[in-house]
Amino acid sequence: MSEKSKELKKVMISDLWSMKEKGEKITMITAYSYPQGLIVDEAGIDVILVGDSLGMVELGYRDTVPVTMEEMLSHTRAVTRAVKRAHVVSDLPFMSYNISIEQAVTNAGVLYKDGAADSIKLEGGQDMAEAVAAIHRAGIPVFGHIGLTPQTAALLGGFKVQGKSIDQARKVYDDAIALEEAGAFALILEAIPKELAALITEKVRIPTVGIGAGVGCDGQVLVLHDMVGLFKRFTPKFVKVYADVYTTQVNSVEEYIKDVRSSDFPGDEHSFGMSADTVEKLREQLGS
Ligand code: KIV
Repeated sequence: MSEKSKELKKVMISDLWSMKEKGEKITMITAYSYPQGLIVDEAGIDVILVGDSLGMVELGYRDTVPVTMEEMLSHTRAVTRAVKRAHVVSDLPFMSYNISIEQAVTNAGVLYKDGAADSIKLEGGQDMAEAVAAIHRAGIPVFGHIGLTPQTAALLGGFKVQGKSIDQARKVYDDAIALEEAGAFALILEAIPKELAALITEKVRIPTVGIGAGVGCDGQVLVLHDMVGLFKRFTPKFVKVYADVYTTQVNSVEEYIKDVRSSDFPGDEHSFGMSADTVEKLREQLGS
C-alpha cells in the first residue's frame, strides 16, 4: 500500500481504541461546512465533530439550544461529502433525543443514515445511558459527552467547570462508567479538573477526548473557529489560538473594496478580451 493511500485509509473506531491502548493521542476538531471538512481532513485530523456549536460559531445563535435537526443534517452532509479519512461524528441537537428513547434512536438514525456520519454524539451521563444503549443496540456508534454539557448548562449553574467537589467529581465519574457500560465507544470530557479527567481516562477502557480537561485525556478536541481566531465573541480559557483568520478576512475584504473603488481591480489578468477587428465591426454595427 502506498504512503498516500495509507494516509487516506478511513479512521475506524477500532483505530481509536488501539490508539488509546498504544498511548497515541487522538486529535479531534469541529467542522461545519464542505471547505472546513476538506481543510481539517487534509491537515490529518483523526476525528471531526459536526458539533452543535454550529449554532454559535456559524449561525449566530446565542448558544446551542436553538439548533435544529434540519440544520445538523444539512451541515453534517456538507462535511461528510468532503471527508475521506477522518471519522466524522455528528451531534444530536437539544430536544432531538431528550423526549423519548424512540425519538433518540430515530434522530440518531437520521444523522447516521441520511447525514452519512460515522457516529453520533449526545450530551448527558447516567440520565442518558438508556438512550445511548438503545442507539447502540440499533447499530449506531455513540460518542458520549459529560462534564459541562452546554445544552443543559442552565441546570449546571452556567458555563462552569464541573466536578470540583467530591460529590460532583463522583457524579462525573459515575456518568463515565454508566456511558461505557451503555455501549458508548468514546467520551468527551468537557471543563472538568485535569486530575478527575486523568482518573476517568485511567479507569475506562474507551478513549476520552478532553476539552478543558487537561493533558491526561486520550485526545483533545477544540472548536475550529476558536483555534483559528474566527469566532470573536468570547474565547474560553482552555482554547489555544493558532491564527487570526477573522482579521485576515476583514483585511482582505477591505483591500478588495479599495481596489474596486480605485479601479485597480479587475486588472487585465482577471479580464477576457476580443480582437480589435471584432470590436471595430461591432462599433460599426452599433454606430458608435
Ligand atoms: O458542539 C461542540 O462543538 C462540542 C464540543 C465543544 C465538544 O460539543
